[in-house]
Amino acid sequence: MENENSAIYQEVQALLGDLPQHRTQLLPLLWRVAEHQGRISRQAMEAIAVVLNVPVADVFGVASFYTLFEDVGENVPVYICTDVMCALAGAEQLKETAEHSAVNRPVAVKESACLGQCDHAPAAWIKGKVFKRATAEEIEAAIKEVRHE
Ligand code: FES
Repeated sequence: MENENSAIYQEVQALLGDLPQHRTQLLPLLWRVAEHQGRISRQAMEAIAVVLNVPVADVFGVASFYTLFEDVGENVPVYICTDVMCALAGAEQLKETAEHSAVNRPVAVKESACLGQCDHAPAAWIKGKVFKRATAEEIEAAIKEVRHE
């Protein structure tokens, strides 16, 4: 269990920034940590629980509900929206390209529910960047830029 002396606690506390130190900030803080770290690790969830003074189970429950917060270990998650509008716009081919590009790279290709970009389908999300009307070429290029951090 993380405590107030751990590096991840200090990092999460800094990411809380101007937000109130209250359980209502759980989702915004999860977003900030995900954007900063590219994922939500178990240690980060424990630190968030300490920072917001909520049970770890609550943090895990919220984080596990949203695909974008899924912990993929040391890999960088690449989310391809496969919801209806993106499916109609070629999401399956985009996902296959992503999976092919991810071979031997520290990348985990995941399906995602709607990314809120239906009018720009197909959409993808890589390291906090949303790709609108994503093409196979730009997803391949983005994956090839991924390095271990
Ligand atoms: S269905 Fe893909 S962004 Fe909405």
